[in-house]
Amino acid sequence: MAIRNLRLDGDEILYKKSREVENIDDRIQELIDDMIETMHKYNGVGLAAVQVGVLKRIIVIDLYDDKGPIVLINPKILKSKGEQEVEEGCLSFPNRFAKIIRPAEIVVECLDRDGKMVKIKAKELLAQAISHEIDHLEGEVFIDKIIPGTLEYVEPE
Ligand code: NI
Repeated sequence: MAIRNLRLDGDEILYKKSREVENIDDRIQELIDDMIETMHKYNGVGLAAVQVGVLKRIIVIDLYDDKGPIVLINPKILKSKGEQEVEEGCLSFPNRFAKIIRPAEIVVECLDRDGKMVKIKAKELLAQAISHEIDHLEGEVFIDKIIPGTLEYVEPE
C-alpha cells in the first residue's frame, strides 16, 4: 500500500468525467488500498479515484464508525430524496469549507470490491459523502455549488 499524491485545486483532471471500471483486477485492488490509505492519511471521509489522478469510477468512504471503509465501484444513484444543508470540505481543496445543499437520503447501486452488486441506502453524513464523491466522478467539485457567501478558510492546525 502507498500514499498517493492528491490532485489539488487548479488541476484540470478534477473537471474530467471518470470511466466505468470493467474489470476489478489486481491493479484496481491496489488502487483501492492506496485510496483508503491516502484518505486516512489526510483524515478524509471520502475520496474519489480522480483525486489521485485516476479517471475511474471508484469511491472510498470512511465515516470512522463500525462500518469501516466502504468501497463503491461504478455507483449509480437510484433514488434521491429531500435536502440537507451541510458544512462541507474536500481533500482537493484543503482548509476550505462551505455550506452546500445535499440530498437528505439516497439509494445507490454499485459494485463492492469483490465485484458483487450491492445497494446502499444512505442518509445524513453518508448521503452527503456519497453525493460529494459521485460528483467527483462527473468532474464536478463542491466549490462550484456552494451556497454563496459561505466559503471559509480555516487555518491548518
Ligand atoms: Ni472531494
